[in-house]
Amino acid sequence: MKVKETWRHFTPAQVKDFLRVGHEGRDHPSRLRTIELLEGMTSVLDVGCGTGVMFELLRERRPDIDYLGIDVTVQFVTAARERFPTDATRFRESSLYDLGRLPGVYDAVLCRHILEHLPDWEPAVQCMYERAGKKLIIVFYLAPRPLRFRRKRDERFEPGFYTHTYDLGRFVEHLLNGLTPAPAEVRIHPRQGTSDPRFRWRDRENIIYEVVR
Ligand SMILES: C[S@@+](CC[C@H](N)C(=O)[O-])C[C@H]1O[C@@H](n2cnc3c(N)ncnc32)[C@H](O)[C@@H]1O
Repeated sequence: MKVKETWRHFTPAQVKDFLRVGHEGRDHPSRLRTIELLEGMTSVLDVGCGTGVMFELLRERRPDIDYLGIDVTVQFVTAARERFPTDATRFRESSLYDLGRLPGVYDAVLCRHILEHLPDWEPAVQCMYERAGKKLIIVFYLAPRPLRFRRKRDERFEPGFYTHTYDLGRFVEHLLNGLTPAPAEVRIHPRQGTSDPRFRWRDRENIIYEVVR
């Protein structure tokens, strides 16, 4: 699967603070809500964990939870391991398309701000859902919305990345309803904080889809 890996070209300074500080940093409302949604879960697989910002929050608020973070960008995994040396084995370099090789099932699988950056989200969602014993938590900064002319996705921002807004109808009707086994429930948590005001998509609010098995 082809992935545009622009993150690989980040400088060490960019890597260090990536999504940890500023408007979209550690205390973003969507992160705090995600922690709440992990209540009752004993393990979490954080897909596209970056430099370990969610781990940092979990360590403070949910130290009981068993955590594994995977990310395709080697610099991020290295930075996470350096930041949390005693938990270094909790971070692995891996693509979500290789999740099939990972042993075990996690109560919750989390993917925050990942699907927008993929060439196609369909195989990714099914892959992650299969590893989720109880729920899959998907956080979007570009919420799916109805697209005109039967378009599947809309790529308007950031030339160096895939930055997709996907069609809402297809996401819910086709993708989520098409998961096997069918989800018991899908809970939607809108208005989970805005993006960085410097970005062109600053007016969009994060949304969380909680897919319960
Ligand atoms: C916008 S960042 C989000 C980081 C983190 N989830 C957070 O919320 O702070 C997107 C992350 O997805 C990772 N990523 C992109 N494609 C991936 C793939 N195929 N498998 C695993 N991680 C991927 C990138 O390396 C990057 O760390």
